[in-house]
Amino acid sequence: MGTESNIKLLDENGLRLDGRNEMELRPIKIETNVLERADGSAFIEWGGNKIIVSVYGPREAYPKHTQDIDKAVIKARYNMAAFSVDERKRPGPDRRSVEISKVISEALSSAVMVEQFPRTQVDVFIEVIQADAGTRIAGLTAASVALAAAGIPMRDMVVGCTAGKIEGKIVLDLSKEEDNFGQADLPMAVLSRSGEVVLVQMDGDLSVEEFNQATDMILDATKRIAQIQRDALVARYSVETQGGE
Ligand code: CDP
Repeated sequence: MGTESNIKLLDENGLRLDGRNEMELRPIKIETNVLERADGSAFIEWGGNKIIVSVYGPREAYPKHTQDIDKAVIKARYNMAAFSVDERKRPGPDRRSVEISKVISEALSSAVMVEQFPRTQVDVFIEVIQADAGTRIAGLTAASVALAAAGIPMRDMVVGCTAGKIEGKIVLDLSKEEDNFGQADLPMAVLSRSGEVVLVQMDGDLSVEEFNQATDMILDATKRIAQIQRDALVARYSVETQGGE
């Protein structure tokens, strides 16, 4: 982010390197229940991102001192596979993945009816198998679908998107080059019905006007992405009711 470079991120017509205009999302595809042994799962392809999410629980929280007597604990673990990025990533947790796991756990806890099953934990494993910018938001959006597919009571779905600034212009859903060489990156997630913001982070600088423009773009995009989440869940439900499982 903010790295000085000669890379031109917008062409003479104001189009981006991948041909998108400023409001355009990359293609998004979500599939549920892709894993047999998880209670719920989802696979998301968002541009070049490929992420698989598995959900286990609720089950008794262990070790016992991690139990909360009033509510369930949502434990998300975000992990990037060594082969998911251009330069092999050293396996195992690092500061970035610990931070992302924490913000995703908090965002999901706002959506799950955690007070309905105290002393338990719900594990959410987010495995990034191919990364192309926006993985925390893509992982979180898929995690919400996987939780719903697991039948875990939720008051709302979590849906997110990023916006950012490239060559002085606010654009939606940054690509890898835009993330690396742009001026700002703003990942944000909301509860889809209430609109409550459950995750917001920012890298780089935006003025108040730019920030407002970026959040308006994100909020508009989350409505489109929420529909993709619903379609994925409905597709699963219709397969089951046709006697497929
Ligand atoms: O993925 P997200 O945008 O949520 O997080 P980021 O920290 O802004 O990373 C942006 C992108 O940089 C990732 O999606 C990866 O494509 C890439 N990256 C990488 O190549 N190697 C890393 N160790 C971390 C990130």
